[in-house]
Amino acid sequence: MYDENATLLGLKKDINEAKQGEVLYFNTPTSGLRKFYIESYGCAMNFSDSEIVASILAEHGYGPTREMESADLILVNTCSIREKAEDTVRNRLRVFNSLKKKKPALMIGVLGCMAERLKSKLLEQEKLVDIVVGPDAYRDLPNLLAKADDGEKGINVLLSREETYADISPLRLDSNGVVAYISIMRGCDNMCSFCVVPFTRGRERSRDTYSIIAEATDLYERGFREVTLLGQNVDSYKWTSPDGAERVNFAQLLEKVALIHPNLRVRFSTSHPKDITDEVLYTISKYENICNYIHLPVQSGNSRILSLMNRTYDRDWYMQRVESIYRIIPDCAISSDIITGFCSETEDEHQDTLSMIIWAKYSMSYMFFYSERPGTPAAKKLVDDIPEEIKKRRLQEIVDAQVHMSLDVNLLDVGKIFKVLIEGDSKRSEMEFKGRNGQNKMINFPKKENLKPGDYVMVRVTSATSGSLKGEITDIL
Ligand code: SAH
Ligand code: SF4
Ligand code: F3S
Repeated sequence: MYDENATLLGLKKDINEAKQGEVLYFNTPTSGLRKFYIESYGCAMNFSDSEIVASILAEHGYGPTREMESADLILVNTCSIREKAEDTVRNRLRVFNSLKKKKPALMIGVLGCMAERLKSKLLEQEKLVDIVVGPDAYRDLPNLLAKADDGEKGINVLLSREETYADISPLRLDSNGVVAYISIMRGCDNMCSFCVVPFTRGRERSRDTYSIIAEATDLYERGFREVTLLGQNVDSYKWTSPDGAERVNFAQLLEKVALIHPNLRVRFSTSHPKDITDEVLYTISKYENICNYIHLPVQSGNSRILSLMNRTYDRDWYMQRVESIYRIIPDCAISSDIITGFCSETEDEHQDTLSMIIWAKYSMSYMFFYSERPGTPAAKKLVDDIPEEIKKRRLQEIVDAQVHMSLDVNLLDVGKIFKVLIEGDSKRSEMEFKGRNGQNKMINFPKKENLKPGDYVMVRVTSATSGSLKGEITDIL
């Protein structure tokens, strides 16, 4: 689950879904090192940042541990997107604080979006927190830790216009060795009225194209077979070389990553309906290894609500983008994010969101009810006037509609053959592998000898539920 406020469908991992509270760990010798323990919450970008933090700490004499009891330093990489996400972190801080009472030398640090949103308030409210570090200040972590050693509480929540951590090679923590995330940009320049991200992550900036290519190439050489390019709004990626001679947009970046090797699959998230261009769609259709899957959050199916949300597109524009996707990439899967019960939403407007799920044929959606975030444009200008019971009832209706739609689109796959990248054992049985097809659907299928994670196979789908597919291998590639 994303958090208690959210409902997830499907078994995929993208910018919105990561195992909340996952403990990151990697196998390196740790004797003689101070030990850190890190838990991550929120979106894939936060998880990706934890890998950067681990890399910085590893350079400064810290080794990872899976057990918080044996840690000298506990870090929690936090999310502010909804109130429940922050509540979860506060509960975890209580657990860490009780450990610190028994072991006063233990240091506790809050990283990420909550650190940025609450700043020094966190040190005041959570007395046992030693350091607070915002998303653009991780390079300062060793310095803040050294100061904290001397009893000084450390805080750095400066946001940057340049920081992309381009030169830091993230430690791939607890990885299956097959799929990895690559952050291609940071921050967000949109001002969706409900959203806290522009405040917690700062201005949008794109990372050096060639550092992205180098990271993806290195991953491929180390055996990885899939990369997901991450950004809050990947379609507005733009990088200019320092001499001004070369400009790279998102379609061109996708192409460059796809050309690294035909066996390296490329995914990306998240696309913004106002910015996704036909050039991107044609690039996806041109390269077999760019997956035919687009996460295109609609948020609401109603134009008045979209305008209040400041999404800068309306229902017709969104529908035209979906039509272009299905025209240029006929077998593309599209998924979405939906918010129910936004300020002043009527029952009729809610119906427009329900009908959009059916019309756009989403393979899955992440669905939330609106949670007002302090300081956002919606909190300042609009009234959060939909009672919680109504928000929840509408959310349930949206979830039910999406479950039906997911089942319908998955049943259409029965009998079809897909290229699948093996990711590991299926959740249910060691006799089965799991892997995803290009459309990002998880397929479970019986193992065959000599196959391993990272191999590609052709799989015929034999049955489907709303959450996953079952199949059998027809060919080994
Ligand atoms: N950059 C992405 C979204 C990142 S946040 C995009 O523009 O699509 C992930 C999702 O959380 C959003 O798409 C939205 O559906 C949800 N979300 C953001 N703020 C929220 C809030 N205040 N209440 C409920 N859901 C919210
Ligand atoms: Fe938030 Fe909108 Fe930016 Fe997405 S595009 S991170 S929803 S402000
Ligand atoms: Fe991600 Fe949550 Fe921050 S969704 S950008 S960790 S507020």
